[in-house]
Amino acid sequence: MAAERGTARVTCTAPVNIAVIKYWGKRDTDLILPINSSLSVTLHQDQLRTTTTAAACRDFTEDRLWLNGEEVDAGQPRLQACLREVRRLARKRRGDDAAAPLSLSYKVHVASENNFPTAAGLASSAAGYACLVSALARLYGVEGELSEVARRGSGSACRSMLGGFVQWHRGERPDGKDSVAQQLAPETHWPELSVLVLVVSGEKKAVGSTAGMQTSVDTSPLLKYRAEMVVPERMTRMARCIQDRDFEAFGQLTMQDSNQFHATCLDTFPPIFYLNDISQRIIALAHRFNAHHGRTKVAYTFDAGPNAVIFMLEDTVDEFVEVVRRSFPPNSNGDQFLRGRPVGTAVLPEELVSAVVVDPVPGAIRYILHTKPGPGPQLLDDPSQHLLGPDGLPCRSA
Ligand code: DP6
Repeated sequence: MAAERGTARVTCTAPVNIAVIKYWGKRDTDLILPINSSLSVTLHQDQLRTTTTAAACRDFTEDRLWLNGEEVDAGQPRLQACLREVRRLARKRRGDDAAAPLSLSYKVHVASENNFPTAAGLASSAAGYACLVSALARLYGVEGELSEVARRGSGSACRSMLGGFVQWHRGERPDGKDSVAQQLAPETHWPELSVLVLVVSGEKKAVGSTAGMQTSVDTSPLLKYRAEMVVPERMTRMARCIQDRDFEAFGQLTMQDSNQFHATCLDTFPPIFYLNDISQRIIALAHRFNAHHGRTKVAYTFDAGPNAVIFMLEDTVDEFVEVVRRSFPPNSNGDQFLRGRPVGTAVLPEELVSAVVVDPVPGAIRYILHTKPGPGPQLLDDPSQHLLGPDGLPCRSA
């Protein structure tokens, strides 16, 4: 925590995560307690991250929040719940320590920026709340179990508090104390695992996850069956796939769970459609690619939006990227079509092209982002990285 002219400031970064066993549905909407456990892979912050500065000062007259440079309402219940919980933990930790460095009664200013489109189905709320809670916790000197606090911001945010492979236990208690995230394996566990994000559309999604999953809980019998009968066994199986670094089993289960999640959306009344025509073409392409190779070499998963996240081992990346480029030829000269980690060139065998690349759709994919599993939230030590100045106001635009 850096105190300058009475303003304490902390800046953290936090990652996006992608669920391979999906969370969909709450049993308690206030505490954000899920109807089933879920499991995710934390993505590397070199490619996708949120950066958040939290500042507190005696002179601040109200809580204020800037998202990607725009001031928004800081009174949102989920933000206030996170703030209240971090302060409660700080109070518990400090006891009656009157010499504590920062008064818990000061108002806070928070500025947060994503380096990717907000609400494009890339789990921006997960990274956002994980980052907020990390920065506030540092500001107030709180350590230890914080996934429970991040969960109050957004369910999936609790999984972004850890790197690598993470499970969020549904928990049994009504107070949510056992509904926490736990790391199954660090990001170094499976170094060959690679991730491509195929960005189909940067537009805001039609039905947000919070509203969508509530309608599903209220109306979908399939969702109830999934939570009670399907997910418990899949959680155990998925943890084993990861432990054994068994890509084929991991990939198959990942695809099946994504498909079942979207089936529960269709079973919701009125139905919710997150996959569009391009998403469906990506699904078909992945299956043709796997069929051609006679095994599961790529595995897709989709959240509450049309973008695909595709897992594969490192040795498949160059070839599959070329297959995607041929199937969805970029509209412009291809500049910026490939982002993130470097991708090598691949010459596709003719029989692969004729079996897999059918009916190309130019311009359907905006860009491909190449990334990999990564670590949890980080503290930025360099004061020049703060998004808020010593006066507590944004110091540079998004
Ligand atoms: C489809 O965590 O965004 O991405 O808890 O209401 O904030 P709230 O919902 P949110 O839902 C994420 C749903 C999902 C699946 C997943 O990440 O597990």
